[in-house]
Amino acid sequence: MTPPTTPTTPATTTGISAVTGAIGSAHTRVEGRDKVTGAARYAGEIPFAELAHGWLVLSTVARGRIRSVEDSPVLAMPGVLTVLHHGNAPRVDTDYVGMVGRPNPVLGIFQHDRVPFVGWPVALVVAETSEQAREAAEALVVRYDEEPHDVAFFAGRSDAYTPESNPMVQAETEKGDVEAQLDASAVVVDEEYTTPEEHHNPMEPHAATARWDGGRLDVIDSNQGSTWVATELAMLFSLDPASVRVRSEHVGGGFGSKGLSPHQVAAVMATTILHRPVRVVLTRRQMFSLVGFRSPTAQRMRLGADADGRLRAFDHQALSLTSTVHEFVESSAVLGRVMYDADAHRTFHRLVRLDVPTPAWMRAPGEAPGSFALESALDELAEKCGMDPIALRARNEPETGPVSGLPFSSRNVLACFEEGARRFGWAERDPRPGLRREGRWLLGTGTAAATYPSGAGPSTAAVTAEQDGSFTVRINAADIGTGARTAMVLVAADALKVGPDRIRVRLADSDLGPAMFAGGSMGTRSWAWAVTIAADELREKLALGGGIPPEGITARSNTTEAIGALAKKERHSFGAQFAEVAVDVTTGEVRVRRLLGIYAAGTIVNPLTARSQLIGGMTWGLSMALHEEAIRDQESGSHVGADLAGYHFAAHADVPLIEADWVDDPVPDDPIAIKGIGEIGVVGVAAAIANAVWHATGVRHRDLPIRPDRVLRAADEARRRATEGAPSA
Ligand code: MOS
Repeated sequence: MTPPTTPTTPATTTGISAVTGAIGSAHTRVEGRDKVTGAARYAGEIPFAELAHGWLVLSTVARGRIRSVEDSPVLAMPGVLTVLHHGNAPRVDTDYVGMVGRPNPVLGIFQHDRVPFVGWPVALVVAETSEQAREAAEALVVRYDEEPHDVAFFAGRSDAYTPESNPMVQAETEKGDVEAQLDASAVVVDEEYTTPEEHHNPMEPHAATARWDGGRLDVIDSNQGSTWVATELAMLFSLDPASVRVRSEHVGGGFGSKGLSPHQVAAVMATTILHRPVRVVLTRRQMFSLVGFRSPTAQRMRLGADADGRLRAFDHQALSLTSTVHEFVESSAVLGRVMYDADAHRTFHRLVRLDVPTPAWMRAPGEAPGSFALESALDELAEKCGMDPIALRARNEPETGPVSGLPFSSRNVLACFEEGARRFGWAERDPRPGLRREGRWLLGTGTAAATYPSGAGPSTAAVTAEQDGSFTVRINAADIGTGARTAMVLVAADALKVGPDRIRVRLADSDLGPAMFAGGSMGTRSWAWAVTIAADELREKLALGGGIPPEGITARSNTTEAIGALAKKERHSFGAQFAEVAVDVTTGEVRVRRLLGIYAAGTIVNPLTARSQLIGGMTWGLSMALHEEAIRDQESGSHVGADLAGYHFAAHADVPLIEADWVDDPVPDDPIAIKGIGEIGVVGVAAAIANAVWHATGVRHRDLPIRPDRVLRAADEARRRATEGAPSA
């Protein structure tokens, strides 16, 4: 009866006691022992009788049509059961509006002969074993009629266009006359910043096993939301939603990449044809074209201010790319709508369509690259105004939402800077660049602000009082490694006023009823809301007295109305990032020596896992600043080194002491008062590091990553300019 992921401490049966205070106290993950002993099984390793294995074959050209899939020789290979392709696969419907808008037509695999990018699925080979499927997939010959392709992303492309606004991203905002205010400004910053294509590759590759079980489609998956995946699979295959069940008990990381991808669709197609369970697991290389990525960006920031730093003009223009099959906007310009006001204020997004896979949400989509441009430009403005960068931000604190005019539910960004400055030793900083040296290293410090929206998605939950004095919480949450399961134990314990050892949580099963997915930093907030309402109602039921029947007593909740009743306000988490770097301008090496992040993110449910998540996010920011960059070969249209050897990211030796902490951040009008911490850790870190590199060297880096060759070239140029400008000896 007890699922394997629950605490094993026997429940005490002293009735409902007054044990509270679970929220805010550090708890190790309730499933931690299962994970470290290997008892916890992931989607790709759960055994099934008669299991068949599918291996995806991806296109090798960037644009064109499939002329032929020569499957006959492959069908004769050992163990091969079938080869699915556009000539024989079941039809699916990709023309629906799902939980997150219109689905990416990349889910419409094997429906037509068009190839829109390198790495598009052109066939699925299914065999008795994974090895047989792979060997046959590698032997499969696919012929193409190739067409010229274009994968070149750069600022100033003449075919850039303004995307339609969608529920996720408003494309443009504008108030006042930016040009007039720029003209009237004493100080102007007008610079371009670029960030490269980046990839989120969780340790656990995407994997799905599909089977038909008693007339129901049963999918064992690794995802960020089983309601989302089940709902959309039902729509894709025109099935009754009640006849689809998706489970995803343990997930080894998601970062925005684990929604729906072609592998789940391929597994469902194959099990439908073969009448036996079929598993499709992606390889690391396949993940580079199948599960989304962060678009490269080219951003222009124009800031105009009075001599005292007060902003007159704010203009953030962000260009990113999308594919020819679907539109995705990397919403880099949205931060300014929350962070800084000005007499004239404009933010907008442009897109170029290229022959590449569709970008997608990657941890802090928009805010991560956007904050690099915005918070670098703020630092440049502080330099020009001769102001401390924190004082500049304080001078431009808005009273209300700069674009919306709405009040903030709580906005403690200055408290973050104050606490961060104190701990970091900011007061001792000499603002002049290029002055501190330690042997071959130039030293510098930098700072940046962070923000991320605090939203909630409708969710249902059930809480049951069991006869033995324990409680079972059922909610279709996803624990993608963050500690969500443990957070729900703590939330339920406090709501029920019992110890956490009396709570067990069942999650990640679409049969538990609809709930928000783990995304947009909204998981914990959304699920805690539903669990709290159900628990409150259960306590009322229990207060009536009487015995508990064998099936227990259950209370249910649905937060749709409660969320709708919340007053419209600007609701966000905030933070302040601090970095210290050492730069060797003779080798181009940049070392981050210290990172400190202080956040205002509402109630922190579990300090242990919250700190881990924030430090993880900050490590992403470091990695973004110095290492990450996916390189596309213009000739072939495909990646160079699409694996974890070729795609550089921060390793242990790159990561210094990172401290993450938070200030009190009450949210008076919010019944749940939990914000979100999944993404804000990334935001602003790359800017803080770039600002520190400027402080160390006197050179601005406006293109990420800050590679050794860029540091060397910049140092050479600075030397050349200094020599040219200096009187001859
Ligand atoms: Mo997050 S990129 O919304 O999973």
